[in-house]
Amino acid sequence: MRKEILLEKIFEEIKVCKKCSLWKTRKNPVLGEGDPNSKIMLIGLGPGKQEDAEGRPFVGAAGKFLNKLLKLAGMKREGVYITNVMKCFLPQNKVAEEQIRACSPYLERQIEIIKPRVIITLGNVATDFIFEKFGLQKHKHSISKIHAQIFKVSTLVGELTIIPMYHPATALYNPGLKETLREDWMKVGKYLKLKGFI
Ligand code: URA
Ligand code: SF4
Repeated sequence: MRKEILLEKIFEEIKVCKKCSLWKTRKNPVLGEGDPNSKIMLIGLGPGKQEDAEGRPFVGAAGKFLNKLLKLAGMKREGVYITNVMKCFLPQNKVAEEQIRACSPYLERQIEIIKPRVIITLGNVATDFIFEKFGLQKHKHSISKIHAQIFKVSTLVGELTIIPMYHPATALYNPGLKETLREDWMKVGKYLKLKGFI
């Protein structure tokens, strides 16, 4: 219960947030959804048009593909917590460094509240942010080099597994990557099952 209340408080804050210029073009900010008690947290970039309309993460075309990938991995969408680095609609699907700086404290608070044991980052922006936050800079490479690799860091609340993945939207622009994404998620699903996370 307590986690839900703390998350609700963040939601109230982002609804009126004007810390970066993206407030001007948002319809609905997107905090995240799923099980706040899950051991697994997924982090994408930020809301697209459909997400902005519904106020929910990953409900557009990329989200539909993500749902399939989760299924392939043996995960239920309701069983994980899904959020983004950015909480407001990204009109060009691009984000500036200063916007990440303005918005990321909300994500940091979500991580503190949820205390995931596994963070799966979707795409370069989320991966770079999480690698930086957890001291993995020396492993920082483009997602094409490190996708589906398993990284571990120790934190004050125990060991955290970090798994960078291609953003599901990548496969929509580059259908050749679809199979790679499917294989990656199957591999990660097996690993998470073996480790008892799912
Ligand atoms: N892409 C993202 O990174 N996040 C969403 O919520 C939807 C699409
Ligand atoms: Fe605030 Fe983040 Fe929205 Fe910018 S993107 S206005 S920092 S909630």
